Amino acid sequence: MKNISIEFPGVKALTNVSFTIESGTIHALVGANGAGKSTLMKVLAGAHDHYTGEILFNGRSVNIRTPRQAIELGVAVVYQEVDMALVPYLNVAENVMLDVMANEMGRRQFINWKEIRATARKFLKMVNLDLDVRMLAQDLSLADKQRVLVARALAGNSRFLILDEPTAPLSQTETEELFNLMRDLAQNQNVGIVFISHRLPEIFEICDTVTILRDGEVVTEQPTSSFTQKQIIEHMLGRRFDETYPKHDVEIGETIFEIRGLTEADRAVKDINLSVRAGEIVGVTGLVGAGKTELCKTIFGALPIGSGEMRLRGQKLNVKSPHTAVTQGIALVPEERRKEGVLVEEPVYTNLSASSLQKFSNMFHFINKKAERASARKLITDLGIRTPSERQKVAFLSGGNQQKVAVGKWLVADADVYVFDEPTKGVDVGAKHDIFELIGQLAGQGKGIIYASSEIPEILGIADRTMVMYDRTIVKELITAETTEEEILFFSAGGN
Ligand SMILES: Nc1ncnc2c1ncn2[C@@H]1O[C@H](COP(=O)(O)OP(=O)(O)OP(=O)(O)O)[C@@H](O)[C@H]1O
Ligand SMILES: [Mg+2]
Repeated sequence: MKNISIEFPGVKALTNVSFTIESGTIHALVGANGAGKSTLMKVLAGAHDHYTGEILFNGRSVNIRTPRQAIELGVAVVYQEVDMALVPYLNVAENVMLDVMANEMGRRQFINWKEIRATARKFLKMVNLDLDVRMLAQDLSLADKQRVLVARALAGNSRFLILDEPTAPLSQTETEELFNLMRDLAQNQNVGIVFISHRLPEIFEICDTVTILRDGEVVTEQPTSSFTQKQIIEHMLGRRFDETYPKHDVEIGETIFEIRGLTEADRAVKDINLSVRAGEIVGVTGLVGAGKTELCKTIFGALPIGSGEMRLRGQKLNVKSPHTAVTQGIALVPEERRKEGVLVEEPVYTNLSASSLQKFSNMFHFINKKAERASARKLITDLGIRTPSERQKVAFLSGGNQQKVAVGKWLVADADVYVFDEPTKGVDVGAKHDIFELIGQLAGQGKGIIYASSEIPEILGIADRTMVMYDRTIVKELITAETTEEEILFFSAGGN
C-alpha cells in the first residue's frame, strides 16, 4: 500500500500511509484508539472506495475499490466487529462458505448443501471448532464467531489474512490455539498475516515486524526484536509513559452492597456471596467462561434471578430488569459494547447522557440539549475520546473509542454501585490509564465498584479484594495486596 490517504467528514483518518505485507510473515499493526489501523485494513479489503494512493500486488498496481476485488486478490479480513462480518441468520456452514458460494453461484445452477457442509466442517476443523454447522451464526459465542471468520478466510484460499483485534474475546488457551494456527498459515502455507492487537506481549510473541501508526501516519516500521514494549508505547502515544495503575488513596467505608446466595434462574451463576464497601474496588476474575459476565448481568437484571437477594445499604433490592437496576442505583458497563453498551446510530452526546436523562431535563421533562452537550464535551476531554465533535454518530468512532463512550455514559449516571465487565477490552494503554483513573475517582466518591476481568495484572493493579470464579461460582476470596498472579491462576483453574 503506497501513500494511502483517506478522509471522513471532519476526520483525516490516514495521511500518506505506506505499508507492506510479505508472504509468510506476521506483521503487527499497532497504534492508539483511532490511529487508523482498522481504516487502513478496510482500504485493503475494499470497504472504502474514496481513498487516494496506490495498492500494489507483487509490484504490479491493482485496483481495490470493492470487497469483491479484494477477495479475488486473496485478501481476507476478520473484522474487529465480528458481528458485522457474519450473517446472523445464516448457519455456520453458510457463513464459512459465503465467499466460495458467491463465486460458485455465477457458474453453477444449484448448490450442493451436503458438500457445502462437509467442506465447511473441514475448515472448521482446521480452526479447532467443533460444533453443529447448522447452528445459526447469531447463537455463537464471540470466540466461536471469530473462528468461523478465520475458517471463511481459509475456505477462500486467502493469501493475506488480516486479523483486527482477534484475541480480545479469547481466553488464554484459545489465544494460543489461534497463534499456532497463524504460525502454521504463515510458515507452511505462505500466507501473509496482519495482526492488530492492543496487547503488546502478544505482538512480541507472534509478530516478525511491527508498524506503528499515530494520528493516521506511520511513525516507524522495524523488526519486532528491535523494540522494547516501552518503546512501542511511546511511539504510539507520542509521549513518555509509565504503565502503572493510578493509585488512589481512598478511605474504605461501610458495606454498601451485598449479595447473598444469588443464583441465576438457569444457574448461569450459582450461590454467589459478595459484598462491596463504599470506596472499595472488588475484582472478579476467572477464566473465560467461568461466569463473570453472567454474574454482572444477573446483578444488573439482564439475566433473571432464580434465588438469593441483593441489598443496597441494607435495603433489599427488587431488580427485575436493567431499567429497575438503574433506578435502584446499579450501573453496568457491559462486555459486548456494540450490542449492549452503546446506541451506534445515535450521536456521542446522546449516548453519554442516555443513562442520566433526568439530570438534563427540567420539571417539564424537556431535555436541556445545551447542558447535555456541555457535559458530553467534558467527558470527551476527560476520557480522550477521539471524535470530531460530540455530534458524531457513535458508529463512526473507532472500536476503542466506542468502548470509552460505553464507559463514559455511566460516569454521569449517579449510581451507587458500578459493575464493569472487561471495560478495557480493545482500549489502548493510554486510554486504559484514563479509565482506571476514572474508576479511582468513582471509588473516591464513595461508590462501590465491581470490576470483572480475566486480565489478572489489571485485577492486581486496581482491586482491593479479588473474588476468583470457577464453574459459575466464587471459589476464593483474596486480598489483592497479598496475592500473586500464580495464586489467582491456581484458583481460576479449579485448584483448591
Ligand atoms: N466511516 C467513518 N466515518 C467517519 N469517521 C470514521 C469512519 N471510519 C473511521 N473513522 C475515524 O477514523 C479514525 C481512525 O479510526 P480507526 O477505526 O481506523 O481506528 P483504530 O486505529 O482501528 O482504533 P481502535 O484501536 O480503537 O480500533 C477515527 O477517528 C475514526 O473515528
Ligand atoms: Mg480498530
